[in-house]
Amino acid sequence: MTITFRNETFRDDFTFRNSLYNIRRFPFPFDRDEYMYSVNMEPHVRGKKDSVFENLIDVDEHYVAEMHDRALVLKEDPLRCQALPHMMAAQWDTLELLMEHQAQDYPEHFTLTKNGDRWRWINRPMGIDDTFTFGDPSTLPYPPMEYITRQAQGDFCIVDQRDNNLWMDAGMVTTQADWSLDFDIGMNFMEWHGPVPLAHQIGVFDRALKFLLNLQQGKPTRRLNWTMTVNPRLDTSPENYHKWGPDRTTVTPENVGEKMHLRVELQSLWRLPRSNAILFVIRCYLISFNELVTVPKWGRRLPRVLKSLPPEIVDYKGLSRNRPIMLDWLAKYDDGAPTSAGI
Ligand code: HEM
Repeated sequence: MTITFRNETFRDDFTFRNSLYNIRRFPFPFDRDEYMYSVNMEPHVRGKKDSVFENLIDVDEHYVAEMHDRALVLKEDPLRCQALPHMMAAQWDTLELLMEHQAQDYPEHFTLTKNGDRWRWINRPMGIDDTFTFGDPSTLPYPPMEYITRQAQGDFCIVDQRDNNLWMDAGMVTTQADWSLDFDIGMNFMEWHGPVPLAHQIGVFDRALKFLLNLQQGKPTRRLNWTMTVNPRLDTSPENYHKWGPDRTTVTPENVGEKMHLRVELQSLWRLPRSNAILFVIRCYLISFNELVTVPKWGRRLPRVLKSLPPEIVDYKGLSRNRPIMLDWLAKYDDGAPTSAGI
């Protein structure tokens, strides 16, 4: 399918919107009326046509605008992209994986031609046509992970596996929900998850780590995570908290439908072939409350979930201040009907 890429912004005048098609394919993350952390992982296999699971690396109408936003972030703050020296093989693994998936599933937009180690990569939406030698960084304009993740939606961490642990040793992180690659680089799985409430105590991270240490090549896994963001802003990093933190004080009963966005991360994890590292893809989807309630079962369920959240999660996700306004506004979409299990 040819995608019509939108010309839109994720800052300043915030012109980001979802088409009807994109609203329908939004990965609404709640399969029941309440939410608690869990090891919610499942095989990352192809799903229904016209869903975000149709292709394993999803490209959508926001691609070009997101890549532009990433370039703006990197220009201001190059430390959003970092890789420790021992991660070069993993960087090439990542480039190969992303190029192969994008070219295979979106042939009208991307083409990869291999002639031995001599590869040609064409990215039509971004006007790129480069020929390079796989394995030789001097033949690319950026190091391999930076090169390809400037052309792929989502944030990316590459974690190295050693000493029965995972180490955040490389990443491209410009669209994060309030955490910092520069702070976390070099940390292990338990360390970078340190700030998360409740989940450590109920064993979520022990089990998740055990599972990931055994992740097999060719059998990626996925999970959904979510939070909320005022305005469709991609870069909600601690580094720029002074820019987006004050937005939380601008939500009113009149503008909450337009300003408040559910932010869902489709996270996929891939064992990489040469390096044995794991690529963690955090693909972010935004939807305004106004857009979300056009699907009645979502409008009915969201207030129930919000109401049931443990206070620690409300606080961690930064929802304390605006939760009452959200609940008041959403109440009219909950007609009291039972929501069946499933989404
Ligand atoms: C949050 C990274 C895998 C569960 C986070 C945070 C980071 C992160 C950086 C933010 C922590 C902060 O507040 O500073 C990663 C990486 C992973 C990974 C790189 C893979 C290598 C997983 C897995 C699970 C998980 C497999 C569970 C099954 C969570 C949860 C949160 C979290 C529950 C809190 C999110 C929220 O409430 O918004 N993760 N994670 N993570 N992670 Fe992971």
